[in-house]
This record gives sequence, structure tokens and C-alpha cells, in this order.
Amino acid sequence: MLILAFIGSPRPKGNSTLLLNKFIKGAKESGATVETIDTNRINIKYCRGCLKCNLAKRCTIRNDDFEELSKKILTADTLVFSSPVYFHHLPAGLKAIIDRFRSFNHVQILEDGLKHTPWVDWRKNFILLLSLGKPSTEDTEPIVDLFNFICEELGSGNKLTTIIGTRLAVPKQVIMEKHDLITLYEKLKIPVHLVEKDYEKNQALLKECFELGKKIK
Ligand SMILES: Cc1cc2nc3c(=O)[nH]c(=O)nc-3n(C[C@H](O)[C@H](O)[C@H](O)COP(=O)(O)O)c2cc1C
Repeated sequence: MLILAFIGSPRPKGNSTLLLNKFIKGAKESGATVETIDTNRINIKYCRGCLKCNLAKRCTIRNDDFEELSKKILTADTLVFSSPVYFHHLPAGLKAIIDRFRSFNHVQILEDGLKHTPWVDWRKNFILLLSLGKPSTEDTEPIVDLFNFICEELGSGNKLTTIIGTRLAVPKQVIMEKHDLITLYEKLKIPVHLVEKDYEKNQALLKECFELGKKIK
């Protein structure tokens, strides 16, 4: 099992990265090989919209890291995307990579819509690990919709699993002990009575990521 994992957060010890670390720990315990890609450090140019990929069967932008990255993407069995929610969407570094996914399929405009035909057969697990400030998940909907679309357009053999961490504001929050959460909630003026419930929620979230990593096939 070869796993390629994308780090979307620009923050050291970002909550989404900590969720990813738990996932990776579980996956490695099950014998998987994992490579992580920090989307804030890799050199990826923006998609130019030239659509040359529709004929060339690959992205024709040169002098960045996408050519090498695309080989890794195509080889991996599982693609994990860990990310904060930024204005209901992905942060720019990760979105720039997703835009380049356009080059993985042929797109044809039909009378009643678009027909997507991937250049190769995709049968991958897509894992989405999201972290956001809101206590509810609606701001993640555009991202989940996007990944459902990507899974679909790249063939019927892909499967998406999503885990979402809510009410996470500062780095490391998801792994904080109760006393640190109390101090944080007082500072951020979040009702302190929520700490008990949120601590349990965070622990359950970390466990869920670990267990998902462990069982990923
Ligand atoms: C530029 C920016 C935009 C954000 N937009 C949203 C948003 O639309 N909805 C939300 O709930 N939280 C939003 N947040 C909060 C982050 O999603 C949240 O703090 C998240 O847990 C950060 O993840 P990380 O620790 O992995 O970086 C935003 C934060 C930043 C910096």
C-alpha cells in the first residue's frame, strides 16, 4: 500500500497536519509506505488554462515539481489531503495542485454537459482530513463537493472518505490537554463549559484518523 499525503496547512503543528500524523501512524502500523508532500514548500505553478493537456495527455507546464508529483499521484493507491478550511475552500497551495489534476483526463463538451475520460484507470482511496474554526461543518461543503467531483470524473473506482475537525482555531489545539484548552477558551472567549465535550470530541477525532489509517486497504 503506497500512500501519498498532502499537507495543506501552512502552520507548523496545524490541526489538519496533526490529524494526518495520526492517520499516518495507523497506516504505518499496518505496513503502508507513506510519502508526504508539503504543499507550501513544493514548487507548483498555477494552471494556465491552456488545455494543451487535452491533447498532450499530460500537463505541459515545465520548470516546476508537477511532472514528478504527477508520477507519484498516479502510482499511489491512496491519496490523503489534510487541510484547513480557508473561506469555505482549500488554501491556495493545495488548490493549485488540484487545478493541475485537470491534466489527468480528457474533457469533452457534449450537448448536455461535460464528459470526463481519465487517461488511465483510477482506483484509489481519497481521504480528506479537514480542520475548521466553526463548530459546525457547513463551510466544508464546497471542498467535499469538489473531491466528490474529482473522484467521479477520474472514474467509478475511486472512493472518498472524509473526517472533519470542528472548533479548531490555533495550532496544536486538537492535541491539547483539558487544562490547556481551558486557558485557550478563556483567552479566546469561547464558553469554558464546552471544554469537556470538545476534549472528548478531539480525542475521538484523533482516534478516528488513526483507525482509518490502520484499516486503509
Ligand atoms: C485565511 C483563513 C480563512 C479561514 N476561513 C474559514 C472558514 O471559512 N470557515 C471556518 O470555519 N474557519 C475558517 N478559518 C479557520 C481555520 O479553518 C481553522 O483555524 C483551522 O482549524 C486551521 O487548520 P490548521 O490548524 O490545520 O491550519 C480560516 C482561517 C484562515 C487563516
